Amino acid sequence: MPVPSRFSKSFTGLLHASLAFVLFLSVTAAHAQKDEALYAQGEKLFKGNCAACHKPDKDMTGPALKGAKARWEGKGDIYAWVKNSSAYLATGNSYAKDLFAKWNNSPMTAQALTDAEIDAVLHYVDNYAPPAPPQGGKAPTEAPVEEPSTAWQWLLVLGLLFLVVVLSLGGVKHQLGNAVREVEGKEPLPETGFWGGIKRWAWANKGWASVIGLLLVVFLIVQAWDWAFNIGVYGGDAVEHYKPEQPIKFNHTIHAGKAEKGNLQINCVYCHSSAEKSKHAGIPSANVCMNCHQAVNESQRNPWSTEEIKKIYAATGWDGKAYTGPQQPIQWVKVHNLPDHVAFSHATHVSVGKIECQKCHGPIDEQMDVAEQWSPLTMGWCIQCHNETEVQMAGNGYYDEIHRRLKETPMGNKELRKYLEDEKITVKELGGWECAKCHY
Ligand code: HEC
Ligand code: HEC
Ligand code: HEC
Ligand code: HEC
Ligand code: HEC
Ligand code: HEC
Repeated sequence: MPVPSRFSKSFTGLLHASLAFVLFLSVTAAHAQKDEALYAQGEKLFKGNCAACHKPDKDMTGPALKGAKARWEGKGDIYAWVKNSSAYLATGNSYAKDLFAKWNNSPMTAQALTDAEIDAVLHYVDNYAPPAPPQGGKAPTEAPVEEPSTAWQWLLVLGLLFLVVVLSLGGVKHQLGNAVREVEGKEPLPETGFWGGIKRWAWANKGWASVIGLLLVVFLIVQAWDWAFNIGVYGGDAVEHYKPEQPIKFNHTIHAGKAEKGNLQINCVYCHSSAEKSKHAGIPSANVCMNCHQAVNESQRNPWSTEEIKKIYAATGWDGKAYTGPQQPIQWVKVHNLPDHVAFSHATHVSVGKIECQKCHGPIDEQMDVAEQWSPLTMGWCIQCHNETEVQMAGNGYYDEIHRRLKETPMGNKELRKYLEDEKITVKELGGWECAKCHY
């Protein structure tokens, strides 16, 4: 039952918390000169801006940043470098030039930080202490989230419970009856088994029996209906979202997830670079992966992933120093598949409609270790959103013009005026329900 286990969970939680606190105290004591506020600010900035390429204490795409400030002392302007390394290289500073050559001429992206913010980051990396390993086994995890059950499932469960209670009452009655017969010296009534019990009860309680029977029939019909409608639909309310196994276990949570949770927070369009300007969002080529994975050949969190990263090397012919081998493009399995007769454009929705990727693809950066089809991709799904969503008017010349013309329409033109009554124009009102817009 949940009560004692929840109690023991919160108790171990408390134990872990106090252990962590003691540990925290000893760590802070060891770093007496560390400024906590500055450290926290630096950590946040580092995770948000630098962690995709740097680690404080290990080389990655860029060098370990611990001690960088000291390394630059008297040799160059580290602030100017961080703000715009290409511009700084152009000044001809020799330390910067050597560094750039040492790192395979892979440029560091310009960072829009102030001097004070750079100081915070450098303070953080210089005082960085790796997180202590969890004490006493597993760290307390969040309580599992219960699957939402539908009302129907609950009705069925209640119905079954009711049946069990009624049957056992029936059984008790049967036994009591037999006890009385025994006292009176008569033969006991024959045992009729489970179904016999049900029949006997149903015969005696016709009203209840028909109510339960009706509920069961309705339940079965609803299940069959659901099933029939979800044939070939893999997202939305369908029981199982389509989630094919991929040739490389690429993980969206690690790469695109929030920096606060220790993920890399790479922008979606860094990899899906055509989403803003063309029909297809596109899947990145292995060269894009190599921007980082030339240097990152293992993952801190999953030891098995070295094998997965090696597959990127196989695809690009990387031997650890140069591209010498043959190239074999990675055969990603397509997750989303609209039928050929439907026209869908990412640019229209992402750049013009200003719709976030997650609105259609779900929390891919938060919980999808494996990419899956989140939305049903049915015609009803497209149309429903076109009916609900207002087009973004602000700063969009094309629609400003339409808006102006609609406003000038005489009151008599009901068809057009009604669009303006609520001062909102939905996609549908601009033709988002016309068959030809979506069908070739
Ligand atoms: C896209 C990858 C990338 C990002 C993001 C990045 N760097 Fe770099 N950084 C590099 C690379 C690569 C080098 C090595 C020099 C080169 O090749 O340009 C470097 C070098 C440096 C150096 C010189 C280190 C030394 O040993 O002298 C400093 C300091 C530095 N980066 C700070 C930062 C800071 C601070 C941030 C975040 C605000 C940041 N970098 C974000 C890639 C990156
Ligand atoms: C580091 C590169 C990278 C980043 C960043 C990235 N993706 Fe991906 N994405 C991939 C790769 C590689 C695949 C193909 C493998 C797979 O399906 O997991 C993919 C697949 C997908 C798919 C499934 C495509 C299909 O086959 O139908 C969707 C949807 C998607 N990404 C959306 C996003 C969104 C939204 C973001 C930002 C939150 C994002 N991606 C960030 C590399 C990336
Ligand atoms: C309005 C809904 C919607 C939005 C917003 C959206 N997508 Fe898609 N996405 C789709 C649909 C529908 C498909 C299937 C297209 C097909 O099969 O032709 C798809 C397919 C994809 C694919 C598979 C490859 C391809 O181009 O067909 C990737 C990758 C992807 N989306 C990434 C993204 C990213 C990244 C963003 C945000 C920048 C985004 N999507 C925004 C609906 C959307
Ligand atoms: C901006 C840098 C960057 C890019 C681009 C990038 N990765 Fe990564 N990737 C990383 C880092 C950093 C890690 C290690 C994360 C860690 O230590 O937890 C990683 C980890 C991985 C892992 C191991 C994941 C795990 O479960 O532990 C795989 C596999 C991987 N990347 C594949 C890819 C593929 C495929 C691409 C190209 C589509 C790609 N990466 C693009 C930075 C990048
Ligand atoms: C999350 C909401 C949403 C979903 C889901 C969605 N759309 Fe859209 N769609 C929009 C918005 C918003 C616009 C208007 C963009 C603009 O012009 O400002 C739009 C515009 C369009 C247009 C251009 C219409 C015109 O008048 O030129 C087409 C075509 C289209 N969508 C097709 C589709 C298809 C096909 C699907 C389903 C596979 C779909 N959309 C799903 C929100 C959505
Ligand atoms: C906003 C986009 C959109 C509009 C507008 C639209 N459709 Fe569709 N339609 C779709 C999509 C997406 C599918 C694919 C559904 C699927 O594969 O489940 C589809 C599928 C269909 C199919 C095939 C049914 C099937 O199960 O594959 C027919 C027929 C159809 N549409 C007719 C129409 C007609 C007629 C209109 C105009 C009244 C229309 N559509 C307007 C998006 C649209």
